[in-house]
Parts: sequence; C-alpha cells; structure tokens
Amino acid sequence: MTDSPRVGGWTLEAKRGEGAGGIVFRAVRSDGIPGALKIARAGDGVGREALVLARAQRRWGPTLIEAGRLERELAGPDGSALPRGASWMATTWVDGDALDARLARPCTDEERRALAAIVAHGVGRGLDELHRGGVRHGDVKPANVLLAPARPAVDRARDRGATLVDLDLATEIAHGSLEGGTPRYLAPELRAGEAPGPAADLYALGLVLAEILVPSLARAPALDAAAVVEALGAVVKEARDVAAWTAALLARAPGARPSAAWIADRAARALRLDVDLDEVDRGSPGSGAARVRRRSARPRRARCTAGRRDRRPRARLAGRRARGRAAFGRGSERAGDPPLDALSRRGGSTPDRTGGGGVTRARGGRRALAARLLALAAIAPPEMDARRRDGAERRRSRAGRAGARRLAGRATIRRGSSS
Ligand SMILES: Nc1ncnc2c1ncn2[C@@H]1O[C@H](COP(=O)(O)OP(=O)(O)O)[C@@H](O)[C@H]1O
Ligand SMILES: [Mg+2]
Repeated sequence: MTDSPRVGGWTLEAKRGEGAGGIVFRAVRSDGIPGALKIARAGDGVGREALVLARAQRRWGPTLIEAGRLERELAGPDGSALPRGASWMATTWVDGDALDARLARPCTDEERRALAAIVAHGVGRGLDELHRGGVRHGDVKPANVLLAPARPAVDRARDRGATLVDLDLATEIAHGSLEGGTPRYLAPELRAGEAPGPAADLYALGLVLAEILVPSLARAPALDAAAVVEALGAVVKEARDVAAWTAALLARAPGARPSAAWIADRAARALRLDVDLDEVDRGSPGSGAARVRRRSARPRRARCTAGRRDRRPRARLAGRRARGRAAFGRGSERAGDPPLDALSRRGGSTPDRTGGGGVTRARGGRRALAARLLALAAIAPPEMDARRRDGAERRRSRAGRAGARRLAGRATIRRGSSS
C-alpha cells in the first residue's frame, strides 16, 4: 500500500475541486484537524491569496491556518502532478456541496426560493465582512459558494448556510485593480473598463441568485441583465420578495445596488433566522437595521442577565464570549501597512500613475483585461460602441473563440494567464 501524499503536517485525502488558482484537496493535520489544502499549479500561485486571507481574518468564510511551498515534487491522491516549489495554503474546512453542483440537480420552486435566501444571507454577510474590511472579492459565482448540509436557524457566522470561498482574485477596494474575473458574472462597469468597486461583487451576486430562482437562466450560455430582470418578474408569487432584491442587485448603476448587509438582513428575515446578540455586537450583521437592533437589544440583555425577564421569543442569548469589536479589516487602515497589491506577485507596488494626461497604466491594464474577458466570453456588451467592439473583435483569436465556447464564460480568467 502506498502512503497518502503529505504536505507539511497535512495528509492529502481527496481532490475537492480545482480552478484557475490551483487544486484544492481535503486534508487532515496530524492532530486530526480537517482543512482545505490549495496547491498552486506552479510557483507562487496561491501566495497572494494566502496574504489576503491572513489579513482579512474572515468569520463568514474560511480562515488561513498555514501556508508554505512544496519541498519536492508530489503526486496528488488523484494522480495530479504537483511541482516542487509550488505554493500551498491550508484553510479551515467547509462542509457541503458547491452551489453549481447543487443547481445541476433537480430542485422544486420551494427549494429554489429557500436556497436563494440562504445564499443571499451567507454570501451577503461574507461580502459585507470583506467590503467593510476594504476588500473586493472579485469572483462571486456558483462554483465559489459552498452550501452547508443543514439549513441555518440563527444569524451567526458559525451557523451560516452558504459560504463564499476563493479569494484568489480579491483586491483592495482603494487600489481599484482588476486581477481577472469570470466573464459570465462581470458587472457592466467592469465591461466598460471602469475601476472595480464592491458593487461589482453585488451585481455578480444578483446573477447568482437569479440563476437559483430561474432554472433556464442557469442553463443560458450568457446572462443579459435586462433579460434576467424580465425572467425574475415571472417567478412564482412566493419568491417575489427574493426576486425583487435580486433585481435591485442588477441595477446598471453601481451606486443603485443595495449593500451586502441590506441583502443579508432581508434574507435573514425571510429565513426567520434567530438573532444572536453576540454576533450583532461583533458588528455583523452590520446594516443600519442591525445597529438599531443592537441598540434596542442592550438594555434587554441586561434585564435578561439580571432576572431572565422580558426575553424576546426569537432572540437566542448564546453564552457571552470574549467581547470586543471584530478586528477585521482594521489592519488595512493602519498607516504604513502595504496595500494588498504591493504584496502581489503580479502587480508589484510601483505607483501606476503616469503623471500626465490623466491616464494610468492600471486603468489601461484594466481596460485590456476587461476587453480580454469580453473576448473570451464571446459576447458583445450593449455599452460598447461599435469602434471598440470592432477592436475587441479583431483581438479575439480563433483559439479565444474556441475557448469561449468551451467555457461558456463560467471559468475564471486571471491577469497574466495565457489565452
Ligand atoms: N475551505 C474550503 N473547504 C472546502 N472546500 C473548499 C474550500 N475552499 C475551496 N473549496 C472547494 O474547492 C474548489 C476550488 O477552490 P477555489 O478556492 O475556488 O479554487 P480556484 O481559485 O482554483 O477556483 C471550490 O469550488 C470548493 O468546492
Ligand atoms: Mg474558484
């Protein structure tokens, strides 16, 4: 019998998934802790994601346990060749199926409605946490959402029903760089080559929710916002509330889209999740509604502690744990800390401003990447004028078109990857 492959103190058990960033294995540490081990296909492929994760200190998503490089070439449990020197990282294991796999199986209308609310809640809270920490996710799509085996009952991180994974393309919002994306889920402002903001994540979430609610959209080769909104108008009566927030996320103007916290709050209410006052105290749920709830909850909690009177029927008072505001994201505001992209193997830390003419290299790069993403998606965005569309058309190689047909725009494209 051959020994299972080992990486650091981890034993690789089985391949869990793979994407543009690397291959993910379920692994177990020598002390029995399960983890997800993401190993780059080559070189420093996951080093940047490990840095982003280390700084993000997520609660609504996996956290970084350890990172390193392969000391020797290795064969994965699935036979994949893992080269010496490839970077790897271990994150906390998240149980459950990926949303794309779930959507490939039959689903009743009722299940779809519940699933959309669960994803709106878990991914909404995950995005709220990232956005408040100054990070844009950059690749919200069904393959990057994991569904917990059980439906959530309480609005708190450890009970979440859906988890947004994969920070491979996450960037600092203030820096506004575009590291790549998945053509199918690109927001209109990114198609136009504008600076990527957190609202682009919300647009992608809108498309994901629409694919859950309307089965024909999940099968469509490309998603056009106007057609998606029209399809959402025809959902069954019971799903109209979820469909309405979904349509709001698809607003063409980034500023018109609701925040992640707003979506998560609506979803928590639709799912009738119990409030966890410790969670509210940590700053997430983080919307205005939650802050009002937090203010009104404090005196009530004091009374409960004193005499267990006046307990709200749906407020579950979980044991008081260490207090203190979540440290999440604070680090990124400290003067002197390098921006995330300065840590990137791709961009480097050189300021991109050219000084004259108001054109920046970063912007040019973004436009080029946006054009490339579009070319690979093989769709013409309505906002592209004819001249630019012709230019994009010329740049589109035969290989690109074949790739686009193969991928139907669902695969991640990364800056620097070959077409
Ligand atoms: N922490 C985790 N726990 C369990 N499964 C995970 C975890 N992280 C990722 N996965 C699985 O591995 C797949 C690939 O991981 P991902 O981070 O998306 O890599 P890539 O950047 O290559 O797309 C995901 O779709 C998911 O199914
Ligand atoms: Mg992925």
